[in-house]
Amino acid sequence: MIKELKADKLDTRAFIKTEVARIAEAVGGGMAINALSGGVDSSVVTLLGHRALGKRLRTVFVENGLMREGEAGRVRSMFAKLGVKVEVVDARDEFFEALKGVTDPEEKREAITQTFYRHVFGRIVRESGARFLLQGTILTDVDETVAGIKRQHNVFEQLGIDPREAFGYGILEPLIQLRKDGVRKVGKALGLPVESFKRIPFPGPALAARVIGEATRERIETVRQATVIVEKALCRTKAFQYMAILHEDRVTGMRDNKREFGQQIEIRCWDSLDARKAKPTRLPFAVLEKLANDITRKVPGVVSVTYNIATKPPSTMEAV
Ligand code: XMP
Repeated sequence: MIKELKADKLDTRAFIKTEVARIAEAVGGGMAINALSGGVDSSVVTLLGHRALGKRLRTVFVENGLMREGEAGRVRSMFAKLGVKVEVVDARDEFFEALKGVTDPEEKREAITQTFYRHVFGRIVRESGARFLLQGTILTDVDETVAGIKRQHNVFEQLGIDPREAFGYGILEPLIQLRKDGVRKVGKALGLPVESFKRIPFPGPALAARVIGEATRERIETVRQATVIVEKALCRTKAFQYMAILHEDRVTGMRDNKREFGQQIEIRCWDSLDARKAKPTRLPFAVLEKLANDITRKVPGVVSVTYNIATKPPSTMEAV
C-alpha cells in the first residue's frame, strides 16, 4: 500500500531533497533514461532527475504520433530554457502499427504500454546501457489501475509486473505518493514555468484515449485539430481538464445543401480537485455555441458537436 502525501501537508523542500537523494542513490554511478511527455508529472520528474544526475540523465520525448499539435517543439524549447536537453525519438510508425485494427479500449491501452515500455524504451535503455527509467506515475494512476477501471499506461509493480523481468530495466517513480495538486506544488517549487505546472493533465495514451474505436493517423489528426480549438477556447476557465473526443458513429449532416454522413466530436470539460471525482463545468452556452461553430467549420468531416453533462462516476474523464 502506497502512503499518500496530501498536497496541503506537503513540505516541498523536504520532498525535493528526499527524492533527489533517492534517485542519486538508486542510479549510483550509472545513468538513467527519463521519459518526458511534456505533462506536469513528467516535467517535474525531469527536473528532479536532472538535479540528482545532471548529465547522467538522458531525457527522451517519444514522438508517438498521438500527441497534441506542436508538442515536441514546445517541450524541447521549454526545457532548453531550463538547461535540460531533450532528445526527440520518432516512433510514430511503431505506434500506429501497434494500434492497427485495435478498437477495444483496454487493448488499445495495452498496445500503447507495450510499444512504449517493451519496444521503444526497451531499445533506448539497452542501447544506452542504463538500468533505470524515470517516470511520473502518480497515485491516481495506480488507484484506477488497481481497481480495474482503466489500465493506466504507466503502472506495473502494483499489478504484479516486475519491469526488470518484463522489460529489462528498473523504473523509478518519485511522484508515486502524490496526486495532481501535490505535483503542481512541487513543480512550482522546482521553478517550472507557470504554464507548465498549471497545465491541464494529459493522459499517457495521449489522443488515442480520445478516439473511440481505431486510432488511425487520420482519426488522430481529426481529434488533434478539434483539441486545438477546445484548448484555445477553454484555457481561461478554471476547469481541471477539457478535451475533444472523436466518436465512432457517424451521423447524417448537411453542408452546402448536400448530404454529409459526417463525424461527431464530443467536448468534455471537468471540474475536479484530483481527478478521482469530477463534474462537468457549467460553461456558458455562448461558449459552447462558438465551439460548435469553430469545430464544424474548421475540422474536416465533422458535422456534430456535443457536450458531456454526466459526472465521474459513473463516467470517467477520458473516453477510452
Ligand atoms: P479517467 O479517464 O480515468 O482519468 O477518469 C483520470 C485522470 O487521469 C488521466 N489519465 C491518465 N494519465 N496515464 C496517465 O498518465 C493514463 O493511462 C491515463 N488515463 C487517464 C486523465 O487525463 C485524467 O486527468
